[in-house]
Order: sequence, then structure tokens, then C-alpha cells
Amino acid sequence: MTTSLVTVPAQSLLDRIQCRKSKIGIIGLGYVGLPLALLFAEEGFPVLGFDIDEKKVQTLDKGESYIYRVPKTEIQLARSRGFKATGDYALVSEMDAIVICVPTPLDEHRQPDLSYVRSTVESIAPYLRSGQLVVLESTTYPGTTDELVVPIVEHLNRAECRVARNGGPQANSIFVAFSPEREDPGNDSVARRDVPKVVGGVDSVATELARELYAALFHRVVTVSTPVVAEMTKLLENIYRCVNIALVNELKLLCLRMGIDVWEVIDAAATKPFGFQPFYPGPGLGGRCIPIDPFYLSWKAQQWDFQMRFIELAGEINTAMPRHVVEAVGAALNNGNKPIKGSRVMVLGVSYKKDIDDLRESPALTIIELLRAQGAAVSYHDPFFPVLDKGRKYNLQLWCSPLDNLGDYDCVLIVTDHSSYDYGEIVRQARLVLDTRNATRGINSPKVVRC
Ligand SMILES: NC(=O)c1ccc[n+]([C@@H]2O[C@H](COP(=O)([O-])OP(=O)(O)OC[C@H]3O[C@@H](n4cnc5c(N)ncnc54)[C@H](O)[C@@H]3O)[C@@H](O)[C@H]2O)c1
Repeated sequence: MTTSLVTVPAQSLLDRIQCRKSKIGIIGLGYVGLPLALLFAEEGFPVLGFDIDEKKVQTLDKGESYIYRVPKTEIQLARSRGFKATGDYALVSEMDAIVICVPTPLDEHRQPDLSYVRSTVESIAPYLRSGQLVVLESTTYPGTTDELVVPIVEHLNRAECRVARNGGPQANSIFVAFSPEREDPGNDSVARRDVPKVVGGVDSVATELARELYAALFHRVVTVSTPVVAEMTKLLENIYRCVNIALVNELKLLCLRMGIDVWEVIDAAATKPFGFQPFYPGPGLGGRCIPIDPFYLSWKAQQWDFQMRFIELAGEINTAMPRHVVEAVGAALNNGNKPIKGSRVMVLGVSYKKDIDDLRESPALTIIELLRAQGAAVSYHDPFFPVLDKGRKYNLQLWCSPLDNLGDYDCVLIVTDHSSYDYGEIVRQARLVLDTRNATRGINSPKVVRC
């Protein structure tokens, strides 16, 4: 750290981070916050998790987990190292670094809903004190840290601290930074520590403190000049995925018409050692990030009288995919002289991608709803979901059906290609298989329709 910039509180925080004594408060113990809290605990930091969901706090207090890929043994190990959870924001004053990992969804008009970030910052701001580091990790539009977080912190802070800015006074300062989360649920090919962490502070001391904090967890920390750059970096990454998935989804529609196997094409193209990265078509986008984050930017762009046409077009193509799947089911049933109405359809896999217990924005839910609207009797199977209850958009009220009578259905529809399924056996038992993921690759059967 450039010593001329360093105040006594900043140096003291830096020292505490370096000797793993700094107390870490993680706000929002969901898919992002809980694993992060466990990682800090693993590195020997004292960690306190904050969540407004009392059930989560109680579950963690009992040493249990509510996330499939976080085993309870990890919670118990962290607890033995001092990890606790609470809903009491007053304890924020005891923390040295506070990391915010709360949701950033879209509202019913598909506009950014920053109410969770706002209410979190409003709740912690009164308790913040000089020399603390606050990092926002929630994905959001460029400008959130500067335009929303900083003003609330300064307005509501009881100790009248200011947020440290380059060239500004350093005394009585709180340090604020943005650092995007880059988790890829279900992807075990890269260790979490090997995923470089991007950080951008409001001032250079905040950047340096955040860099030091994350260097304890990640092998590489990439510092950028401002929080806005860090915020935009995360959006670029997700927009890149969203647009490329839309491209292959559209290509698939053309290939289906032309009788070309799009998956074979992608695999062949992927042999190119430079300039090409494979993306795969599917039944539609799902998950917390890719269907949502790009719209944070297109919303912000309007403020600059600018239209993000790539994002809008990709959104249009990706959103239409569940309808395409339902049309394909209708056409395949029609070939066997059956209408959708009254047909028994078994949907295999409902999580938004394989091998994870996450239903958020899953296209399977839209597909089930659309099939039901056309009169199909829909059942489902998913090893991660014994029941499909009321969600944010749908109230499906379905219970997981067994896999042992697939021959009783008019059609088996593979929406999510979980690894635990025996696709050869599924094709053997079923009368008709619609495959949205190329899960049946290598199986040559007239019963299989790829869509
Ligand atoms: N899930 C992912 O794979 C992923 C990947 C990259 C980035 N992100 C981003 O990380 C952020 C968090 O996502 P997530 O998937 O962990 O969400 P989540 O819904 O799983 O967890 C959020 C947690 O925050 C809690 N919470 C809400 N308001 C709160 C408040 N005021 N105080 C304390 N706790 C509060 C909720 O109870 C919940 O436990 C989002 O911005 C998301 O876009 C998520």
C-alpha cells in the first residue's frame, strides 16, 4: 500500500487482514454469501453472517445447510472455527470488513429492483464506523456503488463518517468498493480460488484494502480503477453469455429446419484452437444471472439515451425458446396422431441447469405451464425437487413422479440433462422422447426427436 495515502485506521485494518484477525461480516447468506462466509472461515477469519431470513439463521445455528452443494459438515467445521449467523445489524459495528451479497432481481416491469441493496445499506449505515471496509458483491448496473451505496452510507451514518475519496480527507473515513461474484453453480472444473477476483474501490485505499482482503481467498485479484468499471465488467461477462446463447439458440432453429445436427456443428467448430468458444442451445435461459443481469444494463443505458440492441434481441430469442419446445412437443405428438390436449407428458429435469438444486427462472417451469395451458397432463421428475410448490411466478403444485413407468406417457421431454439419468434406459422405456439438450447423443432411435 502507498504509505502516504494510508490513515491509521486503514493501516490497522490492513494489518488485521494480513494476520487474519479482521472480523468479516457477510450480509445475505444465499448461494453467494454462504459459500463466501465459509471460505473466509476456512482461511481462519472470524466470520459473522447476517440474514433477514430467520429460518436460515436458525438452520445455520443448528449446523445444518439449506443449499444442496454446501454439505452440513462444512457448516459445522466453520462453526467450530467461530462462524455464526445473526439478524442483528447492530453487530455490524464490530466488523472490520462487511461484504454485501443480497439479491438484485428484476421487478414486474423487468426493471432493476435494488430494494434489497437499498434496505441492506440503510440497515447497516447507522452502525458503520471509521476504518471499516464495505464491499458490494451483488450484480448491478454501473453506478450503483457511487450513486446509491455511498450517499446512503454518508447520510445515515451516526458517527458522521465520510466515504474515503481520492484526494479527500482520510480521517473518519469508511472505505467502499465493488467486487463482482463470479460463481458458476455446478461447475467443479475450476476451483473457486482459481477464479480471479475483480475489485474496484471508490478510492485507491479502498481498492487496496479490498485487494488484500480477497487475496486471502483467491489466487489472483484484479484491481480496476473504479467501482463502475468493476460493475460493468460483471455485466459484460454475463451479456457475452446471454448473447452467445441466443446466437446458438437461433442457429439451432435454422439447423432443425435444414436437418443439420447443430450440436455436431458446435463440437466441430470447438476444435478450432483460437477465436471460438462453444455455447450450447437449450430450452431457454435460467438461473439468477444470465436472464436478468443484461437488463440491468439496458435499463441504465436508457438514462444515457442509448439502446442496447444486442441485449434486447438476445432476450427476445432466448425468451421464445420454451414456446419453441412446446411447439416441438405438439408437432411430435401430432406425428403420432395425438393432440397435446389430453396427452400425458413427463418432464425430466426442472432445475435451470444440470446437477444443481436451483429452480430460479428455470425454463422448465414455463414449459410445464404452457403445456398445461394447452391441456396436457404434465408430470415431472427431478432428483433435486420432491415437489414443485408455489414460486415467484408459478403455482404448479406437482409432486415428483417415479421413473419406472415411462412407457405410460405419450411423451418424455428432457428439459434438464442431469448426469444421474440413464438416457439409454429412458429411450428404451419411453414411447417418444423430446430432447432439448442433446442428452441422448449417440443413441440412434426413431423415438428420439431433438428440439
Ligand atoms: N447465485 C449465483 O450463482 C450468482 C452468481 C454471481 C452473482 N450473483 C449475485 O449475487 C447476489 C446474491 O445472489 P444469491 O444467488 O446469493 O441470492 P440468494 O437469494 O440465494 O441469497 C440472498 C440472501 O440475502 C438475504 N437477504 C435479502 N435481503 C437482506 C437484507 N436486507 N439483509 C440481510 N440479508 C438479506 C436473503 O434472505 C438470502 O438469504 C445477486 O446480486 C446475484 O445476482 C449470484
